[in-house]
Amino acid sequence: MSGTPFYERVAVVGIGLIGGSLALAAKRLGLVGDVIGVARSETTRAAAIEVGAADQVTDDVAAAVKEADLIYVSAPVGAIPALLEQLAPEVRLGATVTDAGSTKADICRTGLHLLPASFIGGHPMAGSERAGVRSARADLFEGRTYILTPQGADDELVERFVAFVSALGARPVLSSPEEHDRMVAYSSHLPHLWAAALAVGLARLPEPADLLPFVGSGLRDTTRIAASDPTLWHDIFLANRSNVLRACDLVETALQELRGAVTEADSTRLLAYLQQAKAFRDSLGYTEPAPEGVQRGLRLAIDGPAGAGKSTVARDVAKALGYTYIDTGAMYRAVAYFAMQAGLVAGRDDEQIGELSGRLRFEFRPVGDERHLFADGQDVEHAVRLPEVGRMSSPVSAIPLVRHNLVVAQRQMAAGGSIVMEGRDIGTVVLPDAEVKVFLTASPQERARRRYRQLREMDIEVSYEEVLNEQMVRDQRDSSRAVAPLRKADDAVEIVSDGLQREEVVARIVALVRERQDG
Ligand code: DC
Repeated sequence: MSGTPFYERVAVVGIGLIGGSLALAAKRLGLVGDVIGVARSETTRAAAIEVGAADQVTDDVAAAVKEADLIYVSAPVGAIPALLEQLAPEVRLGATVTDAGSTKADICRTGLHLLPASFIGGHPMAGSERAGVRSARADLFEGRTYILTPQGADDELVERFVAFVSALGARPVLSSPEEHDRMVAYSSHLPHLWAAALAVGLARLPEPADLLPFVGSGLRDTTRIAASDPTLWHDIFLANRSNVLRACDLVETALQELRGAVTEADSTRLLAYLQQAKAFRDSLGYTEPAPEGVQRGLRLAIDGPAGAGKSTVARDVAKALGYTYIDTGAMYRAVAYFAMQAGLVAGRDDEQIGELSGRLRFEFRPVGDERHLFADGQDVEHAVRLPEVGRMSSPVSAIPLVRHNLVVAQRQMAAGGSIVMEGRDIGTVVLPDAEVKVFLTASPQERARRRYRQLREMDIEVSYEEVLNEQMVRDQRDSSRAVAPLRKADDAVEIVSDGLQREEVVARIVALVRERQDG
């Protein structure tokens, strides 16, 4: 084992697919010492040892928990509160207790009540339609979002667990139990409900088996999750009933509209509907998960001051590699734009601007050959480039809550890999573990010249001097602010682009990524 483990002794209570995968990954990476697996069934206990997910096994929850400094409860949602009741009296001081349940409000209420300083609600956004410890995989969490709802837990325990989750290769995102439940009703529970309804509908055909010769990947993909463990999903739907019902209303209405357009053979409405569906799916920016043995694309972070040519270079690099380009500056600009629209002023209304940034939903959607930033469904690509929005974006980007919210959104966008993310703090804060980092810079005069040309091309009236002056003010503010100042990451490759053709810069960066991929 290399270095000090995060936890000396881990008790995995309910060692199945999730608990087993966590144990396998943590053991393989040397993040934990001993793992004791708890399961009621003897077959599961034997399997946990056999696949290497546990060093010891038992059916005695209390005994397993006593010595542990991490207690990982990965049982079905309905069973977790009772398990917490059972184990709470045995938990030793300073230990962390966490769960992997797919709903959080009920579980966290119990956790907070019984173990106020040590319970951290958790939900790894990873899984499989397969169940059981035999299906456990050490890479199950890799690149996946891992939601944490720590509430009253000690800061030190939270920090350690967040670092542990990152070390597993997952992306920790902090949330409240209520927000978690509201959001996953749409992102996870509704898709499951939909897949189940589709499967049941088809099962009611007089001879469902007759379908088989006609089945392609569409039916396979849309019903895949319906094959998950029914008892698990039974618990989830009941635990998150009101949110699930609200989500259900949304698609029932959408289905009625689609049905209406088909009934009336309304070609315009039908096409608009299908286009909206396609735009949404495209906006999710899925890169299909790499099949086993095939490497997932890397995460490339490009940071540097304004006007260093980052955007054009990042866009070209993304094109050359077939990656998705994410312009984080545009996101800060969008917050500034919406704040201005709402009559808010940075410096005076920072709290409201912070809240606003948490409500905005960002997507980079394809529009023709390009990708435009949509905020709350509105194409803001052009609006955010206006000089007054640029001016406001600098103080807006220094508001801690704005940074927090945008960093969370950016990490989610990067979770699947194959991205080029450009900004100021990508290599240092957003993706400190990005596989390739570039710090792209140029002299102030060169940068101002480029910005000036860019603005003129967009028919925006400015003088070169104005651009240079504004840029100096912004540089100063961006690199001296208290939160996430512009700084080159220690492991970033610095490129000074004065005198270099854009193609040369692009080629150097593409070569860096390829080298890393092959190495
Ligand atoms: O790159 P840009 O000019 O579009 O960025 C707009 C503002 O947002 C600028 O003041 C810097 C800030 N920003 C930031 O603080 N962190 C990022 N990752 C990206 C941009």
